[in-house]
Parts: sequence; C-alpha cells; structure tokens
Amino acid sequence: MRTIDLNGKTALVTGATGDLGRVMIDQLANCGADTAIHYRTNQSKAEELAAGVLAKGRRAVTVQADVGDRDSVMAMREEIAVRLAAPDIVVANAVEQIAPWDSVLGESEADYESQFRTCVLQNVFLAQAFVPAMQAKGWGRYIAINTECTMQCDPSQSAYVSGKGGQDRLLRVLAKEVGKDGITVNQVAPGWTLSDRYRDEHGGFRDPGPEYTQALPLKRRTRDVDVAYAVCFLASDLAASITGVYLPVCSGNVMSRI
Ligand SMILES: NC(=O)c1ccc[n+]([C@@H]2O[C@H](COP(=O)([O-])OP(=O)(O)OC[C@H]3O[C@@H](n4cnc5c(N)ncnc54)[C@H](OP(=O)(O)O)[C@@H]3O)[C@@H](O)[C@H]2O)c1
Repeated sequence: MRTIDLNGKTALVTGATGDLGRVMIDQLANCGADTAIHYRTNQSKAEELAAGVLAKGRRAVTVQADVGDRDSVMAMREEIAVRLAAPDIVVANAVEQIAPWDSVLGESEADYESQFRTCVLQNVFLAQAFVPAMQAKGWGRYIAINTECTMQCDPSQSAYVSGKGGQDRLLRVLAKEVGKDGITVNQVAPGWTLSDRYRDEHGGFRDPGPEYTQALPLKRRTRDVDVAYAVCFLASDLAASITGVYLPVCSGNVMSRI
C-alpha cells in the first residue's frame, strides 16, 4: 500500500501554535517527519506540540521568531540547524491577524504593513534562510499557506489579500527559479476552516455559518485536518511533479482558473 512517507525528513512549520499549524505539525509527524515547531508568543502551546511529536517517536524542537524580521528568521535558522537539522520541508503558515478588517478607505497603513511583512517578506526571509540548504541536497519542499480570500477580493479584505496576493506572485517566481534544484514551491489555500476555535466540548465542531456551508459545492466545511493532509501530500515524493500551484482546500468555494 502506498502511503505518505516523510521518514528521514525535517519539517519547519511557522505559526505552528495557531489553529491550522498545530494540526500540520501533528500530521507531518504522523507521516514520519521530525519537526521544528515555530511560535511567536505562545511558548506553552509549542511545548505541548513538541511533547506530542516526541510521543510519536519523532524528534521535535521549538523555536521562537518574528517571521517579518530578517534577523529573527536567520537566528531561527541557526537554532534549528544546531538543535535538529536543516529543514527539508518549510511550511510558511504564520500570519499576523488584523481585526477588524476595514475598507480600503479606512484600513490603517500599519495593517497593510503587517500583512506585507507576514505574507510577502516572511516568504522572502524563509526562502533566503532555508532554500540554499535544500539546493545543496537537491531536494526540498516549500509550502506556503494562502487563502480562498485571495480569489474572492471581497470588500474589507484588501490588506489581507494584497499580502497573500503578493505572496502568490513571489512564490510563482521562486518555483521557476529553484525547480532545477529538485525543490517544489506550492501554496495551500484554505477556506473558512473548522478548527479548535470552533471545536465543542465533545471534540465535534460548531458550524459558525450554515449559510456558508450551504453555498459550498461539497456542502461540507473544510476541517483543519483537511488542510494538513494537503500539506503532507505536497511535502511528499508523491507530489514530485507539482510546483507553482495555488491549491484551494475549501470544499469548492473557489476554484483555480485555467
Ligand atoms: N483559519 C482559517 O480558517 C484560515 C482560512 C484561510 C487561510 N488561513 C491561513 O492559514 C494560516 C494559519 O491561520 P490560523 O487561522 O491557523 O492562524 P492563527 O490561529 O491566528 O495563528 C497565527 C499564527 O501565526 C503566528 N504569528 C502571528 N504573527 C507572527 C509574527 N509576526 N511572527 C511569527 N509568528 C507570528 C502566531 O504565533 P503565536 O500564537 O505563538 O503568537 C500563530 O502561531 C494563515 O496563513 C492564514 O492566512 C486560515
């Protein structure tokens, strides 16, 4: 039987303490990867995740960084190299959450700057920090998390989607630049996903928006683990011929154009 096998690989997930990142760590470890668990402020969650990975018999380290700051990302690279290994798989998942979203006429300059830093510059810094070691090995997987919003461009989404849209363009260029080195560069774009913030006391999910679900072609809300499965697939050798892709994982709410 063919399975997703990440044994012998090391994976870094930024924003691993967030709702989607924590499930990516769990599933990457289930597939056999050792993990570098990145956090910005939530050290206790990072340590809880590391304990979960160690319990599966995989290696794990926790690392702190501001992904919008070059020096901080470079310091994280050194720490991961010393304590674990240079990552074969990088998942750029962290994002600075801004709230509330506002119109173009009302959104602050600081909000645009935070989205540019954590969507565009995060990927510049992570690529500059981690892709050279992948090139030296002749194998690498660079995966960034985008969003269905980037295709919707609905009112009030401008700061978020201008950051994620810039990320998309940046990573298509990167995919063309590093493909010759055995490195794929892809994006997973979740919809409005059911995750811990919607989980009830029995481990099930409260659906916060039935009207959203009814409009989905699959009539099924995407769950955190669905996003993690897509990440694991793109991280594996099964996806060796896929690069430059923006992959919606949103029950069909948006569909990539050809
Ligand atoms: N959840 C959804 O329904 C959904 C839908 C579409 C797309 N997405 C995308 O999926 C990704 C994860 O979303 P999420 O909902 O899981 O986010 P989340 O729960 O809000 O978690 C955000 C994560 O980013 C980290 N972070 C924030 N600012 C940072 C910074 N400047 N430097 C380093 N780390 C920083 C946080 O670290 P600490 O907590 O340790 O401070 C946290 O781990 C994002 O890229 C988001 O755009 C999510």
